[in-house]
Amino acid sequence: MAADLAAGIRGRFPIFDRLVYINSCSQGALSDAVRQSYDDYLRDWDERGAPWDYWVEKAEHVRTSFAGLVNADPDEIAVTTSVSAGVSALLSGLRFDGGRDTIVVSDFEFPTVGQIAHAQERLGRRVVHVPAAADVTVPVEHFARAIDERTALVCVTAICYRNGSRLELEEVTRLAHERGALVLVDAYQAVGAVPVDVRAIGCDFLAAGTLKYLLGSAGLAFLYCRRDLVDGILPTATGWFADRDIFEMDIHDYSPAPTARRFEAGTPPVPSIYAGVAGIQLMKALGIAETASHVQALNDLLIAGIDELGGRVVTPRDPARRGPLIAVASTDEHALVDALAGDGIVTSSRDGSLRLSAHCYNTRGDVEAVLEALAWYRRLLAA
Ligand SMILES: Cc1ncc(COP(=O)(O)O)c(C=O)c1O
Repeated sequence: MAADLAAGIRGRFPIFDRLVYINSCSQGALSDAVRQSYDDYLRDWDERGAPWDYWVEKAEHVRTSFAGLVNADPDEIAVTTSVSAGVSALLSGLRFDGGRDTIVVSDFEFPTVGQIAHAQERLGRRVVHVPAAADVTVPVEHFARAIDERTALVCVTAICYRNGSRLELEEVTRLAHERGALVLVDAYQAVGAVPVDVRAIGCDFLAAGTLKYLLGSAGLAFLYCRRDLVDGILPTATGWFADRDIFEMDIHDYSPAPTARRFEAGTPPVPSIYAGVAGIQLMKALGIAETASHVQALNDLLIAGIDELGGRVVTPRDPARRGPLIAVASTDEHALVDALAGDGIVTSSRDGSLRLSAHCYNTRGDVEAVLEALAWYRRLLAA
């Protein structure tokens, strides 16, 4: 295990002086760099007044950072305030013609994706769900049963926020494309934790944000749209920062930007951009592939320890089918999260499971502390 990875960076996250923080699927821990970035924002505001040229430049900088992160071109990236905003803008402009009126949604999607898809029913679209299998995967065969000549878009999450299951993005994308459908990947639980490459996946759209494994704060996300698709999508959820020329200030016209900027809306979230740039820089310097193998080794230990305690790991065991998040079945997940919090261990829960999500800064010692506490609260583990 790359013990040095955590050793080299842990001191930059003051929370570890007080707590065992193993909850990055909810929110990344605060680093000295991200804290400093907020000071920088306040300093720039104070010293310069309204430096909008500079701030817009910063927004362009984060666009380039996002592009580098997922192997896209900056012109293919919209800088948004949330995944929801990006996905809403996309679906508001996507064409559902040629008899393709259907959005296919896996049962492992985050609520926002399902809800935005169902909101399109008001415009005559149809939503088809892809059920999960008993082994906590959504097999490609299940997608194959759902995708047909009526499918316009397939929504597939990279890693499920509830149970840590990692979906087969390349295979689902290949299948969807064979059948003439487009693919949207929700990579929020993956970016920063595992390498994400839009070209390797082959997907048409991908959305994610900075709050979790990218170590930023709320209010900043992005949407990737493959270059050749941009032109054909005219979002009706829009705003002046999506316009071809932001400074034209024309209230008589809708002329969206020729790039993925057309999926943006209003004034960029400047403070979150400062934080996002700092968080992404930190993760890039540390190495996302290195982080992924560090966390996989920690999770191997965690899974072995939970087995020993007689607990049940909900997340698929195959390392290729899981990401950083490990879900553990509980008889009362809220009581378990509270009990661990009482011992200074920060976790979260969903759907009957405790969620443990290690990141670059977590150590073998953190995993041992969690296992020791779980042994104490064994009655809250479900067999
Ligand atoms: C997989 C996934 N998608 C989307 C979201 C929500 O994104 P946003 O609040 O930026 O719309 C989350 C947040 O937890 C998530 O885990």
